[in-house]
Amino acid sequence: DEVYLNGKWLKHDEACVSVFDRAFMLGDGIYEVTPFYYGKAFLLEAHLNRLQTCLNKIQIDFDAFSLKPTVKEAISRAGLGNKDAAVYIQVSRGVAPRTHYYPEKVKTTILLYAFPVTLEGFENKNWDVLVSEDKRWHRCDIKSTALLANVMANEEAVSRGFNENLLIRKGYFTEGSHTSIFFVKYGMVFTHPANNDILEGITRNFVIELCAELDIEVKEKAVHVDELVEIDEIFLTGTTTQIVPVNTITRVEKRVYTAKKDQITRRLQKVFFERTR
Ligand code: PDD
Repeated sequence: DEVYLNGKWLKHDEACVSVFDRAFMLGDGIYEVTPFYYGKAFLLEAHLNRLQTCLNKIQIDFDAFSLKPTVKEAISRAGLGNKDAAVYIQVSRGVAPRTHYYPEKVKTTILLYAFPVTLEGFENKNWDVLVSEDKRWHRCDIKSTALLANVMANEEAVSRGFNENLLIRKGYFTEGSHTSIFFVKYGMVFTHPANNDILEGITRNFVIELCAELDIEVKEKAVHVDELVEIDEIFLTGTTTQIVPVNTITRVEKRVYTAKKDQITRRLQKVFFERTR
């Protein structure tokens, strides 16, 4: 229950941030969630790289890679060195009187902590998901702490007993509320192109590499809801999700998809699991 805040390790209930912190007041911050499997950092460089890219996009002047030793320390301090875990990292623009423009000479607020993640048995999960309208803004490529649209979508799904949402923009699937989506059709894998409509998932990119290794063709092309009838398998990926197959899809009150196959999802899960061990 220890967190790292601006250079100090503190009990989480003793760590304080100003009410004028811009991540608190405006959602003016970037976050990252980076996994450690059995104490070993998994794709940490890629996560820090995305953090840096996002910070640059909103002109927060901070060296993401300077956090590398602290991220590792969070795992050992939390006693998660031989477990599956993740580290949450948040970089806020900092504390300043409330303005809509970027204030000058603010010092970033850095928060970081480790938490356990369950990987064991992930191959037994099978999710029922709900289609929701993608009501987010047009810069979903930025991993911003302003997650209200994602939170509202996921609340709708979970309160109705679903595991996750598949978000659609103009009828095309973009991603989940906190996952990337893959579709399998004719033995080929389809996923939304990495543009401003989605977050370029680190797990997504790793799965695309695994497909190349397994000689599975990948097309970065958005899938329309009307194409679901032609889809054989769907799976979701993410740092806290790994690779999870979609069992059913519901749109409004109607079942619009039931999984037909699972071969490609299972093959990818198997190699994914091996790489994390
Ligand atoms: N979410 N898309 C969205 C909108 C996400 O929030 C996430 C991750 C992903 C998957 O990205 P990655 O494979 O890099 O984890 C896709 C994190 C885990 C979260 O918000 O907790």
